[in-house]
Amino acid sequence: MSTGVVIVAAGSGKRMGGQRNKLWLPLAGEPILVHTVRLFATHQEIDQIVLVVSEADYADVLALMDAEKLRVTVTLGGAERQDSVRNGLASLPSSCTYVLVHDAARPFVTQQQISDMIRQVRRDQATIMAVPVKDTIKVVGATGLVEATPARESLWAVQTPQAFRMSLLQEAHEAAQKAGKLGTDDAMLVEWLGHPVSVMQGSYENIKITTPDDLWLGEEIMRKRRGE
Ligand code: CTP
Ligand code: MG
Repeated sequence: MSTGVVIVAAGSGKRMGGQRNKLWLPLAGEPILVHTVRLFATHQEIDQIVLVVSEADYADVLALMDAEKLRVTVTLGGAERQDSVRNGLASLPSSCTYVLVHDAARPFVTQQQISDMIRQVRRDQATIMAVPVKDTIKVVGATGLVEATPARESLWAVQTPQAFRMSLLQEAHEAAQKAGKLGTDDAMLVEWLGHPVSVMQGSYENIKITTPDDLWLGEEIMRKRRGE
């Protein structure tokens, strides 16, 4: 049974504030993008990799993947992350029964977690990685007043990878596009179909590199993993 991954890298990294997409920034001396792609490229159970990039990065990404000998299909993304995932899915061969969707900006997912996720998606057809939230979360209204305090025990912060039976995720993306609905993650589109989504406990180290603070935290995680 073939498993593919769509790695979305077609953002512009506005919150990082640099001149280029944040995924070019180095982590332990190599671009964030290389760390993330290599994780999947060296994983025994991943058969196909589609890397979704912006037009601005396209030529440079092709050259980088070539130089690093990383075998990926590179395709163009869209204005929203959801558009980028949809384009990526279209580039996966139909032989893929299962697909993982992963943010290129999360270089700290582990190979063990990827294996666990593949095992779980074969059972559940839709599964996401998440961690229990540590903070108390408030719902705040437009007036700046607190409207509600949801019970913390039921709140999880969602990460990627998210894994799905390929046909299910394709159906969810088509339905969302037809209805003009934009979800903030892929699971949300599957939830709209009424399909159950299971949760796999991830780790707090699986951060998304988003703002400059995340870069030094990322370097610390790298150092820790190298045993320094
Ligand atoms: N992404 C994408 N296509 C988009 C927007 C985002 O492929 N139209 C990707 C990003 O490259 C990133 C992942 O989705 O790997 C998660 O998005 P985020 O962390 O928000 O990255 P950016 O959108 O690039 O950052 P920002 O929101 O700060 O501009
Ligand atoms: Mg974004």
